[in-house]
Amino acid sequence: MDKKIQDSLKFYIKTYGCQMNERDSEKVHCILEEAGFKESSIESADIIVINSCAVREKAESKIYSEIGRIRTINKKAKIVSMGCVAQFNHKKLKSVSDFVVGTAAIDSFYDIASNINKKGVFIKEKMDNPEYIFPHKKGISAFVDIMYGCNHFCTYCIVPFTRGREISRTKESVIEEIKRLVDNGTKEVMLLGQNVNSYGHKLGYDFVDLLYEINKIDGLRRIRFTTSHPKDFSLKLINAMRDLDKVCEHIHLPLQSASNRILKLMKRGYTKEEYLEKVYQYKEIVKDGSITTDIIVGFPTETEDDFEKTMQLVRDVEYDTSFSFKYSKRPLTKAKDIEPQVEEAVKLKRLNKLQDLQAEITQKKNRLCIGRTFEVLVEGKAKKGDMLFGRNRQNTVVNFDFKDNIRAGDVVNIKITKALKHSLVGEVVC
Ligand code: 5AD
Ligand code: SF4
Repeated sequence: MDKKIQDSLKFYIKTYGCQMNERDSEKVHCILEEAGFKESSIESADIIVINSCAVREKAESKIYSEIGRIRTINKKAKIVSMGCVAQFNHKKLKSVSDFVVGTAAIDSFYDIASNINKKGVFIKEKMDNPEYIFPHKKGISAFVDIMYGCNHFCTYCIVPFTRGREISRTKESVIEEIKRLVDNGTKEVMLLGQNVNSYGHKLGYDFVDLLYEINKIDGLRRIRFTTSHPKDFSLKLINAMRDLDKVCEHIHLPLQSASNRILKLMKRGYTKEEYLEKVYQYKEIVKDGSITTDIIVGFPTETEDDFEKTMQLVRDVEYDTSFSFKYSKRPLTKAKDIEPQVEEAVKLKRLNKLQDLQAEITQKKNRLCIGRTFEVLVEGKAKKGDMLFGRNRQNTVVNFDFKDNIRAGDVVNIKITKALKHSLVGEVVC
């Protein structure tokens, strides 16, 4: 298709799910823009891309309801279904989409962009070239994939089936990508992988070696990473978090449950005691380090007593925030066949209890920040009022009064004056 026609074409992207999906959608956005497409509203788009999540049943069903909704408001657009649901359920999506693109086939958007009138299903088991550096939008903070897939097969999780086996990108290609980002104004990178701690096992170097290399990049201010699997979270990494100036003091360490019986059924590979030992090591070594987690309530066979163990660990660790979910039965996973499954009403009751507890802890921890000064990387204008916002190194959002001489990308010291539910408010310290 010639460039003139593409110049008049418009796209809209809807993304569900995790940061991996957000990054994949960013790749698609840039590929389409480079081909001459313009971003538009859903109503006027010629091509609508839905990036789907399969991690819970509710998320999976969204892609089907979203396609139905699109068809009522925009009958002419071509629909592309992509992401985790597309990878494992392409047959079903094919009947309601013009294109289906799996998680390992993002590069097929180069073909789609050249002719949106063809139909096609692009599913690959493995990426053709995991070293390929996809384009980025301009921004202060950027997501960078350092690895794809997962080898863990936790018994509740569909991810190993939707994102395939673990594969690490070489440090040369990761560093090249970050250098390009920094040349374009990026100050912070979030390194992405399902389990960054097992990065590089076939390459002859590990995640900490990679961090040391990235830390040397001039012009880069901050390095973050997610997700860490507790089984592979090492003292070597904790020490690197203390020693490397650009690595931020925040760890996301999914607990899932604090009952050893449930952890075993989940096939997580650690006990509550081993998890706690690492958390206390981290708290001792990384000064002012924050910690966040993921928890599943109502895993098959979970009793009140199992759940109470999770509540107690949350009280003991005092996470800065946590993401908690009701267990959801997933196809292809082992846990779907474990009996008895927990009743929906019980799951909901446990989820509410846990979330109430976490809200109290988060508020308490935020209040303890009042009067303290934090280094904040400015990201831009805040949603409300005449304020700017950024994040401190611990990853909490900080809002502060607008000042003419402060720009996105600056690093400023902010003294906290007020604690909100999920964020802090402060003033610039000169
Ligand atoms: N049900 C509920 N939550 C799940 N997660 C993964 N699989 C499931 C499931 N089947 C949660 C885990 C994981 C997060 C990304 O999603 O807590 O860490
Ligand atoms: Fe899923 Fe477990 Fe892999 Fe995380 S480590 S993506 S929870 S299988």
